[in-house]
Amino acid sequence: MNKLIFPRNFLWGAATSSHQVEGHNHNDWSRWEKETADSKVKHAKYQTWPDDLLKKYPSPLVKENYISDQACDHYHRFEEDFDLAQSLHHSAHRFSIEWSRIEPEEGKFDGAEIKHYQKVILALRTRGIEPFVNLWHWTNPTWFAEKKGFLKKENIKYFVRFVSYCAKQFKDVKFFITLNEPDIYTLNSYLQGLWPPQKTSLVESIEVYLNLIQAHKQAYDEIKKINPQAMIGIAKNNAYFEIGQSSVINRFLKKMADCYWNHYFLKKTADKLDFIGLNYYFHIKIQASLLRSPLRWFSQNKPSTLNPIPSTLLSDLGWEIYPKGIYKVLKDLGKYNKPIYITENGLANHDDSLRADFIKEHLFWINRAIREDINVRGYFYWSLLDNFEWDKGFWPRFGLIEIDYQTMKRTTRPSALIYDEIIKNNYLEI
Ligand code: FCB
Repeated sequence: MNKLIFPRNFLWGAATSSHQVEGHNHNDWSRWEKETADSKVKHAKYQTWPDDLLKKYPSPLVKENYISDQACDHYHRFEEDFDLAQSLHHSAHRFSIEWSRIEPEEGKFDGAEIKHYQKVILALRTRGIEPFVNLWHWTNPTWFAEKKGFLKKENIKYFVRFVSYCAKQFKDVKFFITLNEPDIYTLNSYLQGLWPPQKTSLVESIEVYLNLIQAHKQAYDEIKKINPQAMIGIAKNNAYFEIGQSSVINRFLKKMADCYWNHYFLKKTADKLDFIGLNYYFHIKIQASLLRSPLRWFSQNKPSTLNPIPSTLLSDLGWEIYPKGIYKVLKDLGKYNKPIYITENGLANHDDSLRADFIKEHLFWINRAIREDINVRGYFYWSLLDNFEWDKGFWPRFGLIEIDYQTMKRTTRPSALIYDEIIKNNYLEI
């Protein structure tokens, strides 16, 4: 037996986001869910799903699956959920503040909601859990969306005002994440037309991306003015792009993918990042044939039974499980010389059959990167709870803790206990 030890003070935990767990949010997503639920059910009817998954409520074949509604009711049950995180020895927790709650109408800030999040932060602290406060996880107040959101440069000021307000109200927070995955958001909302506002414009997607870069930079300065001790980063989705067959074109494509997907945002914001948050999910084999459908690189939506690649382990969403990729991505991030937190890494796995190995294998590769001097300081599994997985709805089960959506009962999954063992030991046994 070998013990792979993690650094002292390594932070261990899990992540959530407001819209996916809280329930009863009123924002651009909640509006869009209701408008599109019927057509999502229709589309789902033509797919094949594993039987045991269809038995769970809500299945992908019912409308309720696609409307976040009360979600996990985490808004009212956060204490209970944090009790569970504490019992699993989590030392950090990443969550997001819902802008549409804090500023439901333009310029009108809701003191009661601020109090709510102050209680959330306190609830974490009293359990010895370090809060990582994420200020934007894709959802927008409807008034901001009506002004065209981040598509308009002149709208950045609204986000910065909200951030500044939060920084003043949550003064004791040490770790702030300004934006979650600006890349996935831009891709799905402005290029692929999958998410609200369902745009399919290359020009607009570039504008949004550039505006998000500015939004981060200005938010960073604003938080620093108010709270100079704060550590501020973003949660960046980086993928491991691997060359399939070595050829000039494939090597060129890898360079471009690395340069634009993985590094553009980081390079443009490098002087305003105290740490890098890494969300790792994807390994993408570069083949020139992908050029025919470049937008499909990140959208493998099918349940595993339908996936044509045999020998590869897949999550319920059909996403390939490739733990070594996190090592490759971490090594590649080393050049920024910044502390790195894994702000998301996880899988949809309704019967929990793959989750424990998934966590162990990713930690194995993270540990190797650490031993090779990559400054990784924490790991947040996605997610603490089963939750509302955006356009897919509730059926993908990402949680360490299972939610029964009919009763709201929480049940800790076996994999959560294995993760707990690793946390208690601060090492991985192999
Ligand atoms: C990430 C998102 C997170 C969750 C996971 C599965 O891209 O940040 O909210 O949906 O994927």
